[in-house]
Amino acid sequence: VTTLVEAANKANKRIGTALSYGVLSNNETDYLDIVKKEFNYVTPENAGKWGSIQTSTSDVWNFDALDSMIDFVEQNDMAFKGHALVWHRQAPNFVNGDVTPEDLTGLINAHIDVTAARYSGQIYAWDVANEVMGDDANYRDSVFFAKLNKRFIADAFTRAHAADPKAKLFYNDYSIDNINAKSDAVLTMVTELVDADIPIDGVGFQMHLDASNAPSTQQMTENFQRFVDLDLDVNISEIDVRLSSLPWDQVTKLAMQQQVYHRAVNACMNVDRCDAVTIWGFTDKYSWIDGEFGPDDPLIYTADYQRKPAYFAIADGFMGI
Ligand code: G3I
Repeated sequence: VTTLVEAANKANKRIGTALSYGVLSNNETDYLDIVKKEFNYVTPENAGKWGSIQTSTSDVWNFDALDSMIDFVEQNDMAFKGHALVWHRQAPNFVNGDVTPEDLTGLINAHIDVTAARYSGQIYAWDVANEVMGDDANYRDSVFFAKLNKRFIADAFTRAHAADPKAKLFYNDYSIDNINAKSDAVLTMVTELVDADIPIDGVGFQMHLDASNAPSTQQMTENFQRFVDLDLDVNISEIDVRLSSLPWDQVTKLAMQQQVYHRAVNACMNVDRCDAVTIWGFTDKYSWIDGEFGPDDPLIYTADYQRKPAYFAIADGFMGI
């Protein structure tokens, strides 16, 4: 195969990247050529977040960045995932202010109604609720949970479905990539949603992994299967693989990183209902990891746009090699 899209098509899955609006609007040719050639699925890295759409005033929306991303995706025959309707980070300041539970419900509803309806029928999926489970396996103590209890989660799915009945609706979270206390808690949460006939279509497993302690293919597959058994889709929604904590030379680190990407794609291949693998960016030139964890090379292209061993891990994984 010559591209990741070609490999993913053979596997009947989508291959995605997060796309930065800042980089897209700079028209960096090397970057955009790879996006168009290698991917058929796009998630906006920041442009679709509530705080990017509504900055200071609750009745003013700004869709310029998201609109131009969706234009780009449509011009290039790609699918688009909206990210993310309800998330405690990168939300507008007015949700954190002195608002009553009723006011907060009204703000969430207006945001979902306006945003999801705007792109209704145009996009493949939405991350409806993002990271509502805490790392301690209890519901995260966000402003949403504090004021509305877990009810806001079901309501967000119901609202999003009404606004865009065709979009697949996902729950999305990190550190739920194998069977552990947090993924158990998410499983319980989505089981309740499914049992209550809430319109949830699947779960996205972010997989912000560290090559020194990443789960095995079998561990990831077993975990996916528990969600598929609820008749849900699963996908890898934001994978990147840090390598800087490995104690070896760079060539060996890159080989280990290749193995970890391969494990993840293999797990997706093991499960028919795994519909996509999205990488959280693609070039080491632009990754959130450097800002949050320090310098690393977590993605599948070098900073000067050469394919890394990890690139071939993904192609091979989709080809069953
Ligand atoms: O745009 C401002 C810029 O004007 C300012 O000068 C600069 C100074 O800090 O900040 C810029 O905003 C940054 C923004 O990314 C755009 O680059 C924010 O500080 C920074 O916090 C923000 O980080 C994003 C992060 O989500 C925020 O939570 C990352 O780019 C983005 O990759 C990351 O993505 C999340 C997913 O949405 C959900 N899952 C986890 C994943 C990684 O954290």
